Amino acid sequence: MAHDRESALALVAELPRGLYINGRWRESATGAHYPVHSPADGTVLTEVADASVADAQDALTAAEAAQKDWGATTPRYRAELLRRVFDRIIERTEDFAALISLEMGKPLAEARGEVAYGAEFLRWFSEQAAHLTGSYAPAPNGGYRIVTAKQPVGPSLLITPWNFPLAMATRKIGAALAAGCTCLIKPAPQTPLTLALLMRIFDELNVPAGVVNYLPTLDAAAQSKALMDDPRLRKVSFTGSTGVGSILLHQAADRVLRTSMELGGNGPFIVFDDADLDAAVEGAMLAKMRNAGESCVAANRFLVHSAVAEEFTQRLVRRFEKLVIGDAFDPASTVGPLIDARQLDKVTELVDDAVAHGARIRVGGKASSGAGYFYAPTVLTDVPETARIGREEIFGPVAAITTFDTEAQALERANATEYGLAGYVYTRDISRALRFAEGLESGMVGVNRGLVSDPGGPFGGVKASGLGREGGATGIEEYLETKYLAVQL
Ligand code: SIN
Repeated sequence: MAHDRESALALVAELPRGLYINGRWRESATGAHYPVHSPADGTVLTEVADASVADAQDALTAAEAAQKDWGATTPRYRAELLRRVFDRIIERTEDFAALISLEMGKPLAEARGEVAYGAEFLRWFSEQAAHLTGSYAPAPNGGYRIVTAKQPVGPSLLITPWNFPLAMATRKIGAALAAGCTCLIKPAPQTPLTLALLMRIFDELNVPAGVVNYLPTLDAAAQSKALMDDPRLRKVSFTGSTGVGSILLHQAADRVLRTSMELGGNGPFIVFDDADLDAAVEGAMLAKMRNAGESCVAANRFLVHSAVAEEFTQRLVRRFEKLVIGDAFDPASTVGPLIDARQLDKVTELVDDAVAHGARIRVGGKASSGAGYFYAPTVLTDVPETARIGREEIFGPVAAITTFDTEAQALERANATEYGLAGYVYTRDISRALRFAEGLESGMVGVNRGLVSDPGGPFGGVKASGLGREGGATGIEEYLETKYLAVQL
């Protein structure tokens, strides 16, 4: 049954508030807790245990102890376990959606979408777990055989963001467990509750002790440094900002630790003059307004051919005007709050800076008064190149539109960023669509489509947007080593 805010708060009151280490819930070694806030009104939802470095080390001890047996479980066993977790999440869709809405703020309908998306990673990786491959081939000189086998990397630290509290975690946990790796999960401090429920499900399904460990903390830097300095840790997978990813990469270099990095974006959304404008506006709503723009694959820069720019803008403005900002549990609400005051300040600054440099506000352009971190869905036109908004990741409900006249100009401008995560192109000319998609310096391209995210697709970026791919056929490889055996016959 769908939750309202009151029943969602009752659900929170029943959740474990501790750390999950070595198959049991416990308090932090220091006894410390921290408050989790509602972004809709700033109230404290609950307090959770704040893992210390000693707790993290205990979790690593447990993960290392469990690694040998976990890595030796049969692929079928791991596959079926992941499938059971998938089923359990789907059964509890309303509970997960309520927790996501409470702690992250997205409207319930969107949170349900995240539950389906997040659960799907576990089904996808349950299917992958049972299909690990190796190879057997003659050496080129024919004298022996080249045999390859896959082995789990080992205990993995999974650091997840607040914008998709469930899906960004299952994308990592599913792959790690399917590959046979034990893991330590560090949720974003703002959104630990969704994963507390996920840990409870792992516990109910009797996942062996030490295989999954859960370590919310306010001191992420101390925790990750201690774990990454420890030779028992074999892998770190991070989703978050390029700045933090770069710090982690420096730390990982000291021990040549394997990494997967899913970092920031500055996605271009290109609309050519022959585009189906209805489809382009529909795609823009998705690429920009999914998660209130708080997504690294969000369209950050709209580049629209000058012949259709005004028509596209007017249609987009009409759609933005119909959006309703409000509390996640209000059925009328279609856009939730931003995650916190810092994010609200950043979006406000970027819009103000663009306007100071000459941009025009066509709708929105300000934060809501009152409690919570709401910012009005905003469309800006005439955004000059000097404005910060064209260079920095917005992570908010703001569409910044500029125009172009030639394909070459559009491509040059689209690629003029250090990021390269997702891009979008709308045109009816299939040759141009493919040519442009090939020329875009990004890991993912939506061609006449405003959503690229899919557990079956390899998610990841180029340039400063990251290293490695999550999901898709290759996502599991991030947690596997290839061992080569030279076999003399
Ligand atoms: C992200 O914002 O980090 C990823 C969103 C997605 O998977 O679509």
